[in-house]
Formats: sequence, C-alpha cells, structure tokens
Amino acid sequence: MHSLNELLSEQLRDLFDAEIQFSAMLPDMIDRATSSDLRQSLSDISENTLSNISELQEACQLMAIQPTGVTCEAMRGLIREATQTTGGQGETATIDACLIANAQRIAHYEIAGFGTAKAFARCLGKGDVASLLGKLASRAGEHDKMLSYIATGGWFSSGINQEAVQASSSH
Ligand SMILES: [Fe+2]
Repeated sequence: MHSLNELLSEQLRDLFDAEIQFSAMLPDMIDRATSSDLRQSLSDISENTLSNISELQEACQLMAIQPTGVTCEAMRGLIREATQTTGGQGETATIDACLIANAQRIAHYEIAGFGTAKAFARCLGKGDVASLLGKLASRAGEHDKMLSYIATGGWFSSGINQEAVQASSSH
C-alpha cells in the first residue's frame, strides 16, 4: 500500500466483494423471515444491494480500476456467523430478531466502509466517487433505521423483540 489512492482502490474492491457476498445471502434471509414487515425490508435491502454493486462498479470505473480481485474476509465472517445463528429451530419471532441482528451488523459494517472510503475519495479530490459512496453510506443508514424500527417498534406497535420475549415466556 503506497498511497491513499491505492488504499481507496483496495477498499472499493473490498466493498464490491462484500456487497456481492451480502447479495448472495439475502434470498436465504428473506426465506427465513416470518414477519411480513421484515420480509419486505429485507427485499428492499436486497434490491438496494444490487444497486450498490453497480454503483461500486461505477466508482471503480471512475478510478480506472477493476472492481474484482479482493475478498472481503470480514463479510465472510459476518455471513458465517449469521448462518450459524439462524440455522437452528426456534420461535419465529426469535428467528426474526436474530435475522435483524445479523442484518444490522452488516449495515453497520457498510456504514463504516462506505463512510471511510467516501472520506478518502473526498481527500483525493474525487468528488464524483465521494458522492457515490455518500449515497451508499446513507442507504446503509436507512437500512439500519428501518431494521431498528421493526425490532423495537414504533409508537403504535411493540416490535419483534417484544414478540420474541412474549413467545419465550409462554414456555
Ligand atoms: Fe472488508
């Protein structure tokens, strides 16, 4: 790693791979979700993740680099852990709560990754790359908020976490 430019290139490739991995995992998460709100949110996230992939491709084009060649080991770990935690049997609300927890860890990883890369791009005077990355960071932020809302409920509903408490106390 010789320059901030190379560091940004490396991070864009890492994020590109991370989004491909996440996108491949989402159909399975949607299948396991029971709550219709959660299924809808995960479907929205899935659609947005496809947009992220093409926008990262665009960012790589602007940097004149190929997006491929890096494996995101962190996303691999997040996915491995997520697959283990939702693999077994359980109350549907508890499984939904677990799916949300896993998706939020990934959203936070994305917020950090896109946000840092955006800051690097801005420092390098690559405004077009920075604005693309800013869009991806705020999209991940929206996913995080949407998932929190489903987990903890709003003014009129109690949320999946509370449902999971009720389901487990009925045993
Ligand atoms: Fe990574």
